[in-house]
Amino acid sequence: MKLVCVTGAGGFIGSWVVKELLRRGYRLRGTARDPGKYCTVPCSMLVEFISAALLDLTTARHYWFGLVCEADAKNAHLLALDGAEERLALCRADVLNYDSLRAAFSDCHGVFHVASPVSNDPELVPVAVQGTRNVISAAADAGVRRIVFTSSYGAVHMDPNRSPDTVLDETCWSDYHYCKQSGNLYCCAKMMAETTATEEAARRGLELAVVVPSITMGPMLQQALNFSSTHVACYLTGAKPTYPNAVAAYTDVRDVARTHVLAYERPDARGRYLCIGAVLHRAHFLKLLKDLFPQYPVTARYEDDGKPMAKPYKFSNQRLRDLGLEFTPLRESLYDTVTCLRKNGHLPLPATVVAPKRA
Ligand SMILES: NC(=O)c1ccc[n+]([C@@H]2O[C@H](COP(=O)([O-])OP(=O)(O)OC[C@H]3O[C@@H](n4cnc5c(N)ncnc54)[C@H](OP(=O)(O)O)[C@@H]3O)[C@@H](O)[C@H]2O)c1
Repeated sequence: MKLVCVTGAGGFIGSWVVKELLRRGYRLRGTARDPGKYCTVPCSMLVEFISAALLDLTTARHYWFGLVCEADAKNAHLLALDGAEERLALCRADVLNYDSLRAAFSDCHGVFHVASPVSNDPELVPVAVQGTRNVISAAADAGVRRIVFTSSYGAVHMDPNRSPDTVLDETCWSDYHYCKQSGNLYCCAKMMAETTATEEAARRGLELAVVVPSITMGPMLQQALNFSSTHVACYLTGAKPTYPNAVAAYTDVRDVARTHVLAYERPDARGRYLCIGAVLHRAHFLKLLKDLFPQYPVTARYEDDGKPMAKPYKFSNQRLRDLGLEFTPLRESLYDTVTCLRKNGHLPLPATVVAPKRA
């Protein structure tokens, strides 16, 4: 089985991509900025290191530089995954450090570039863009053949001038100036990072497929709360007392992980794959939550902006269906999200406990 590398392996989506790759029998490396400090490299990878050292000291140096194995608490869940002990090595790498990426990608056939700050902080925009440039450059120098890049529907749907009749699909792009003016710098960063990935991959002769997830729901493998899981939690705890007149697109993290692997494995897969399972108004999203978990004080107050209720837009996920993906129903995703938030201690049980309804 080919050796592949996942950047940002310990994050919400990265962890599920790692799990899916292990399930399918891959040997892989996962990068994290702080994976841990003790070395317990799987035997198969030690053998590769020694062979590389016998052949070429430069390659061997790259190997050794990156391999670290006992994870710190933030990444410990990765080494507990089925197959991880035999087939997963964690590497220390920052996307702003070319050498660390070059080391992690040595001898890899494919790279899944998932790592990115998920933030509107203007200082982090260059991290997403320069980080992507470094990843493509290090991958090309290491002889990698295929890249799967994780973009976001933030790079696709934010266009106030899109006609309500337009079907959102892979040809759509957000309006960069609108995103900048409205403070959605994360969307600007993802647009620029995706453009960089596409241009640099073409320039360096790498095959590229781009996964475009919408707001991603589903159970977390990692302990720390990521941004999209917080999106659900804050409507169940009263942290968000009102909800906006807004429509959003949702998908399941297990579908996003499967999409990454499908896009890697299908040799003809190129360009964007829009990963959207459902589009709905926030009022309907919260009704689903309330229906599943009536014991929680789900936010019920509407922020009336004086405008008519926003209508869900049409979208097409046909390209991804053609690749073979079957989407998880949103109801099931939400059920699993909340169950996981509770299990991990992110959601205190309300005073009166009523058993949740099954999805
Ligand atoms: N969740 C969603 O709703 C959603 C939707 C669309 C697209 N996406 C995209 O999916 C990807 C993963 O997002 P997520 O939701 O899984 O977020 P997450 O849990 O916050 O994970 C982000 C990952 O990026 C890594 N990272 C951040 N800055 C880095 C740097 N300078 N160098 C190396 N790694 C760095 C983090 O690694 P460390 O462990 O080192 O901190 C972490 O593993 C991102 O590209 C995001 O734009 C997410």
